[in-house]
Amino acid sequence: MSAAVRADHTAAPGAVGGGSLPTGADKVVMVRSMFDAIAPRYDLVNRVMTFGLDNRWRRRTVRALGLPPGSTVLDVACGTGDLSRIAAKQGMRVVGLDLSFGMLRAAPSGPVLVEADALALPVADGAVDGVTCGFALRNVVDLPATLREMARVLRPGGRLALLEVDEPAGPLLRLGHRIWFERAVPMIGALLSDADAYRYLPRSVAYLPPPEKLRAVVRAAGFSTVGRRPFGGGAAQLLTATREAQR
Ligand SMILES: C[S@@+](CC[C@H](N)C(=O)[O-])C[C@H]1O[C@@H](n2cnc3c(N)ncnc32)[C@H](O)[C@@H]1O
Repeated sequence: MSAAVRADHTAAPGAVGGGSLPTGADKVVMVRSMFDAIAPRYDLVNRVMTFGLDNRWRRRTVRALGLPPGSTVLDVACGTGDLSRIAAKQGMRVVGLDLSFGMLRAAPSGPVLVEADALALPVADGAVDGVTCGFALRNVVDLPATLREMARVLRPGGRLALLEVDEPAGPLLRLGHRIWFERAVPMIGALLSDADAYRYLPRSVAYLPPPEKLRAVVRAAGFSTVGRRPFGGGAAQLLTATREAQR
């Protein structure tokens, strides 16, 4: 188990399987309780549904920061800490933060992980060299505000690397991906973990802006040189950016 630091709050359970997607405070409660519930088998399901590629993508995400060893990196929405541990292995000084204490508690030992909301990071302005965030943009209630908060804690010239799910561009790959993501993944999730949570996963993609809009939201938060590249034939995407000196 990791050195997880718990915040003071109470979370109520919420429905995740069907119906309209939650927003605002309902979404916070639902997301926290869903990740608390699936935490024990979260890593296993990730490995299965990405054919073991997810940690390769995380390694490339940390490398894409382009920061030297010893740099301070905040891993926002760290979950069970895969990205945090990979960044630490690459020589970074890492702290992970997540809304779900269940996810933090399920993490193997590694960097310090703290229960905190991405919308109110307990970190001083300009205090870190890099921010990573893996597969979590869909889960926050206010994406522009979350990105502004990441910009706030980064020093000018600091680096951002966001790993997210995506959909392949070509029609054939997209069809195969849809069958896998929308049919097979919920079945695998039901078998290994929680049916509702893994029905919610493909539906939650609707929260993500399309690529150009997403880049624009990153830029508007105070970043420049916003780059985007596909992973896994387009099943995932990496966005990188540099914190502007002036906003
Ligand atoms: C799909 S998991 C990704 C976890 C991890 N980054 C990874 O690469 O596996 C999404 C995570 O985002 C967290 N999360 C969602 N909203 C959050 C918020 N507002 N602040 C912090 N963490 C949040 C969830 O608790 C969950 O652990």
